[in-house]
Amino acid sequence: MQLPNGIRHLPGYLDRPAQEALVEAIRAVVADAPLFTPVMPGTGKEMSVRMTNCGSLGWVTDKQRGYRYQPTHPVTGRPWPAIPSQLLDFWRDVAGYEKPPEACLVNFYSDDARMGLHQDRDEQDLKAPVLSVSLGNTCLFRVGGLSRKDRTLSFKLASGDIVVLGGEGRLCFHGVDRIYPATSTLLKSGGRINLTLRRVQP
Ligand code: SIN
Ligand code: FE2
Repeated sequence: MQLPNGIRHLPGYLDRPAQEALVEAIRAVVADAPLFTPVMPGTGKEMSVRMTNCGSLGWVTDKQRGYRYQPTHPVTGRPWPAIPSQLLDFWRDVAGYEKPPEACLVNFYSDDARMGLHQDRDEQDLKAPVLSVSLGNTCLFRVGGLSRKDRTLSFKLASGDIVVLGGEGRLCFHGVDRIYPATSTLLKSGGRINLTLRRVQP
């Protein structure tokens, strides 16, 4: 399978102990910055994932103000917690970008959640890659080109996999078609966690 230029899949980048440590770190993030249900701008339709963030900026969306980054949690009003150190290490080792990530979006997928095809384009710095870490149940990930009409291909992402969207692939359309229940024992209640690290400001 030939991925679009700039898109890299690193299967099994995190071993099981690293996955367990990261889940613990994300539990601490969620305890401080609770998961919220994002809604689409305009329509107010709820997305099927629940999300939170860590880092100096977090990605949020609501009916009135749409997609944006902000320094505080939309419900608690508090600053987002810090990005766990192991994620900063992955960024340093894999992203190949001099500046650190500012935002880490935490998406929690129940086994029936999905994410429609979209581009990550709310960042001012599009030279930095997006680095994504998968934990828990396997998903079917879909990636296309720079136009929504371009041909797409799909492949599975398992717990511990990293995907990098960088270079020419930075703005490729992508989404999650489905989660495969009971494909990982990492998360006691099932589902999948995806962490995406982004640099927002140049
Ligand atoms: C996203 O595009 O924000 C999430 C991708 C994923 O869940 O793998
Ligand atoms: Fe995305």
